[in-house]
Amino acid sequence: MISSLPPKKVTVKYMNKPRFQDSVVIVTGAGTGIGRATALAFALEGAKVVLAELSPDLCSTVAHEIRVANGFAISIPTDVSNPNSVQSMIETVKLEFGRVDVLVNNAGVFPRIAWDDLTLEAWDKTHGTNLRSMFLCCKAVTPIMKAQDSGVIINLASIVFLLGAHTEMTHYISSKGGVVGFTRSLARELGRHNIRVNAISPGAVQTESEAAVVTPRDEALVMANQCLQTRVQPSDVANAILFFASQDARAITGQNLVVDNGWAMN
Ligand SMILES: NC(=O)c1ccc[n+]([C@@H]2O[C@H](COP(=O)([O-])OP(=O)(O)OC[C@H]3O[C@@H](n4cnc5c(N)ncnc54)[C@H](O)[C@@H]3O)[C@@H](O)[C@H]2O)c1
Repeated sequence: MISSLPPKKVTVKYMNKPRFQDSVVIVTGAGTGIGRATALAFALEGAKVVLAELSPDLCSTVAHEIRVANGFAISIPTDVSNPNSVQSMIETVKLEFGRVDVLVNNAGVFPRIAWDDLTLEAWDKTHGTNLRSMFLCCKAVTPIMKAQDSGVIINLASIVFLLGAHTEMTHYISSKGGVVGFTRSLARELGRHNIRVNAISPGAVQTESEAAVVTPRDEALVMANQCLQTRVQPSDVANAILFFASQDARAITGQNLVVDNGWAMN
């Protein structure tokens, strides 16, 4: 039915405020690849970014890039698999900002080692960087987030856990399966404190580290498996991380979002 009343005047308000203005965001392994792209993306949206990266040189390089782009970053060289190093990073963050809004548990290692060659040392190193690190960082930030009654944690898993198609990665895939289980359990533990916990599972991402080892044959295999015929970029994963961190995802917790140009399908 067409109304005879004059149309209501509609005012459109443009929200120019960046989504993360003055939010304190910790990104582990922020020196290269997905971590670097994520740190830059948060900084461009107004966040105060903490670069918790193993390499002091990479820390400084990314901090410089962010400052050149008029963003705010502090670099705190950190070994996320080491309890003392994580504790000292968090103490610095507490002193500097007094709060933590977002923790991105991104640091990870993925050496290919066949089962027969896999040593306990290599297993422990992979699990230490990929999973124990998440326990340590979450243990350190959750008292702060609980006191705020708010916070977001985003954990980097991988589609290899869903695919079950790769050899020479038992140590890596088991660590990433652990990340998915950890994410779900922690979301259940922390929901009552208004803390959301989600995972992102990237597919084959065209990072600097990948470019150093990938062969044309590997690349052809990736394309043959994906629906979309482009390579996933670190910025694609960063965009999904920022979505989870934003208010647009306020009703989403305990989930694992796949960012892989359509490879694995749940
Ligand atoms: N690249 C991919 O295709 C892909 C696919 C699926 C999942 N992932 C996951 O995404 C995350 C990032 O991957 P990426 O490809 O950007 O990796 P990357 O190798 O490019 O970067 C990892 C960063 O972590 C840092 N790091 C390593 N050990 C650390 C430690 N103990 N403490 C602090 N920092 C440490 C490294 O110095 C490096 O800067 C990882 O968890 C990885 O498993 C990556």
